[in-house]
Amino acid sequence: MSEPGIGKKTVRDVDVKGKRVLVRADLNVPLENGAVTDDTRIRESLPTIQYLLHRGAKVIVCSHLGRPKGRDESLSLAPVAGRLGNLLDREVLFVDDCIGPEVEQAVARMSPSQVLLLENLRFHAEEEQNDPEFATQLAANADLFVNDAFGSAHRAHASTEGVTHYLPAVAGFLMEKEVRYLSALVANPPKPFAVVIGGAKVSTKIAAIDHLLPKLDMLFLGGGMANTFLKAVGIDVGSSLVEDDQVETARRIVAEARTQGAAVHFPVDVVAADRFAADAHVTTVPVGQVPHGYMILDIGPQTVQRYGAALQSAKAVVWNGPMGVFEMEKFARGSFGIARAIAGLKATTVVGGGETAAVVARAGVENEFTHVSTGGGASLEMLEGRELPGVAALQDA
Ligand code: 3PG
Repeated sequence: MSEPGIGKKTVRDVDVKGKRVLVRADLNVPLENGAVTDDTRIRESLPTIQYLLHRGAKVIVCSHLGRPKGRDESLSLAPVAGRLGNLLDREVLFVDDCIGPEVEQAVARMSPSQVLLLENLRFHAEEEQNDPEFATQLAANADLFVNDAFGSAHRAHASTEGVTHYLPAVAGFLMEKEVRYLSALVANPPKPFAVVIGGAKVSTKIAAIDHLLPKLDMLFLGGGMANTFLKAVGIDVGSSLVEDDQVETARRIVAEARTQGAAVHFPVDVVAADRFAADAHVTTVPVGQVPHGYMILDIGPQTVQRYGAALQSAKAVVWNGPMGVFEMEKFARGSFGIARAIAGLKATTVVGGGETAAVVARAGVENEFTHVSTGGGASLEMLEGRELPGVAALQDA
């Protein structure tokens, strides 16, 4: 049986033989000293590129990397060209701009089934400004546009939205997969449906919780944002980060969830520290007993155990946001414990991209989830029920 569509044309719906195909990928990968330290996003881009190559297209790949202000050699995509070439097991041509005569000449020299990677789109400020002239120049070297950059689909930039005004535009396989998993889960989750929300700030998660609220059966709270919820139900959180202007919203969410019969799970114990530092003095205490001057930086072991037990009955789980400051070893156990607990479930399990994807990768369980998104901001916006501009702009199926 074929999978349900996403309402948009994909690479399967177009003839690509001999065509110049501009592929917007999200190759925004972490680099250290010019070397790629996590190639997940490059690997996730391969199916679309390989499909096009096998069908004789001239594949012109473009992406942003980081947030440069103008040209910045430390954010060149050149190292990514090398890694992409290794993974594809073929030469990847590279030009050090994404528009202009050099690109034009390189494309003119391409044979079918060759790959060219263009330099970082954000070396031109016009990319983020969605400048029509810049989008026209990007489009000038191609016959067809394929957007496979799910991680950037929440941005209405020249390479995600602008270019679709000048070229026929379809989705790549990664875009299709991401949108399919996330929209199906948000629209029609198998029940009981559990939502696990963490991360530092509650203000960035309210829209997603609100959108999921009518459908969820269990809400699990963790990370810095749980402090605001704890304060909302009258629990003392010591010197922990709290967004006071969100306490009332947190109280409303808890009340609404309970009114509709959903269970709201709060941390029962926490790891508290005297400073926000890797070498801080740390104590694990029942929630509500944080020593004076200490701040909560992770959920405690009893919470991990209780959340894990309660999650057993879930048929679908979406997880967005770490349970603590997982970048520091002393505050990582809560996030890793929850990662393992969700990974072990017999349920549809979906992980938001960005930090949460980094947690499951570091816990070594990324292959045990139904879907781990490659997009942080983009997956959050999907959980908020928003239409992503990079998806909306593609041709309807
Ligand atoms: C991401 O890493 O979330 C995407 O690549 C988007 O990057 P941006 O937030 O800089 O637009």
